[in-house]
Amino acid sequence: MEFTVKSGNPEKQRTACLVLGIYESRRLTPAAEQFDAACGGYLGNLLRRGDLEGKPGQSLLLFNVPEALCERVLLIGCGRERELDDRRFRQVAAHAATALNDTGATEAVVYLTELTVKSRDLNWKIRQIVEAVEESRYRFDQLKSKKDAPRRLLRKIILSVPGRRELPGGEQAVREGVAIAAGSALAKDLGNLPPNICTPTYLAEQAQALAREFPTLRVEVLEEDELERLEMGALLAVTRGSAQPAKLIRLDYRQGPAARKPYVLIGKGVTFDTGGISLKPGEGMDEMKYDMCGAASVLGTLRACAELKLPLNVTGLIPAVENMPGGRASRPGDIVTSLSGQTIEILNTDAEGRLILCDTLTYAERDEPAAVIDIATLTGACIIALGRHPHGLFSNHPPLAHALQAAAHAAYDRVWELPLWEDYQEGLDSNFADMANVAGNRDGGAIIAACFLSRFAKKFHWAHLDIAGTAWKTGKAKGATGRPVPLLVRYLLDRTAEAEREDGRAAH
Ligand code: BES
Ligand code: MN
Ligand code: ZN
Repeated sequence: MEFTVKSGNPEKQRTACLVLGIYESRRLTPAAEQFDAACGGYLGNLLRRGDLEGKPGQSLLLFNVPEALCERVLLIGCGRERELDDRRFRQVAAHAATALNDTGATEAVVYLTELTVKSRDLNWKIRQIVEAVEESRYRFDQLKSKKDAPRRLLRKIILSVPGRRELPGGEQAVREGVAIAAGSALAKDLGNLPPNICTPTYLAEQAQALAREFPTLRVEVLEEDELERLEMGALLAVTRGSAQPAKLIRLDYRQGPAARKPYVLIGKGVTFDTGGISLKPGEGMDEMKYDMCGAASVLGTLRACAELKLPLNVTGLIPAVENMPGGRASRPGDIVTSLSGQTIEILNTDAEGRLILCDTLTYAERDEPAAVIDIATLTGACIIALGRHPHGLFSNHPPLAHALQAAAHAAYDRVWELPLWEDYQEGLDSNFADMANVAGNRDGGAIIAACFLSRFAKKFHWAHLDIAGTAWKTGKAKGATGRPVPLLVRYLLDRTAEAEREDGRAAH
């Protein structure tokens, strides 16, 4: 899909489809009003007749509007003007995108950018519309022999901005929205792929393919013998039961000043989580193919960095393993030595995410990171605590937590912080090793898991995102969401702006 921005009056647009908002109840938005004046009050009459209330979710497609230069007009219900907040705007944009896909128009000029959304600016609205359009067009049908290919005629979307002054900012917003959407789509594809295809080897190949597509990305894949040489005992304990070889995938993006420390993103890449010897119940186990969505979000984020040519240094680290039972699998009670030297009693082989992440965290020390963020479908307990709307956020450095909260708000890819208090740490006491990998009870499971990770993140600023509830949807609309790619890309865009401000100050 091609997106552009343009300033101009609605009645002057010679286009296949004009998209205008209608407030509840039956009130024209300013652009709709302007258009209506030019076509002799046609819209106003139509609304008075009761054909469209303007409720969110409603739409009406009109042809042959008198005096109009455009072929069609798509009216979109926006709800009550006073109630138009960011959440409602996203619903309206998503609905407009779906309605637009169903028309026969090849091109559309969209005026929903003019809606006033509390505490959100024009560029936010542009990004949201771009992301909504791409989201509405996402399909995962590569494994269906008969594709119910929708007839997709729409090729180009033109987003209206008030004047010429808003064009450069609007174009940048389009670029950001497009890159975020493409990164999310990559993350969704990887998440949706079945576990017999999306293995650790496959993830490594995808990282290599990404580095071929974007020469600013350099990839390195550490094989099991190298992980043994490094003595990553915790990571290796997880892969023991699997016939699939484990990989530690490293992607380097170095487009910032050489002296500037990198941001390190670590993504949990368990391509299938059976639980191991602590086997999970059978019901719904297929969903454990999504246990690599943290890894997928790291690949999606690095793709967006490369596409946006961000002047930053970013490293992606992906421990990729499959967690299987078997004669060689780790047992409950096994004690292993992590790369950090700390010993771990594996009381539950289903708490495998923290085992692969802890060694990867220690490995990240050698990069002297500016900050480390790990992203993991880590605990069912996080879903119990927060539901499926925000990611669980934990951090050992309040400014990093604040930066992530700000990015989450800006991207509307929300987080909620949970405590990492010292009081919780004793839950991990072990009689036989430095720590156990689980606590003796189920209390605060998401926090206990984060406490475990925090023991391996003492040497840098660190944040942990538990995305168990947010990386995929269950039920009828089952599928990967591509989250938290929008949050991570926004966080890195914010760091770019921050670096520019600092450089500006240094120059004065
Ligand atoms: N991958 C799961 C977490 C998970 C569960 C994500 C359900 C999404 C939905 C993780 O490896 C796991 O099994 N965690 C255990 C930890 C427990 C053994 C302490 C869990 O959450 O039950
Ligand atoms: Mn598990
Ligand atoms: Zn898992």
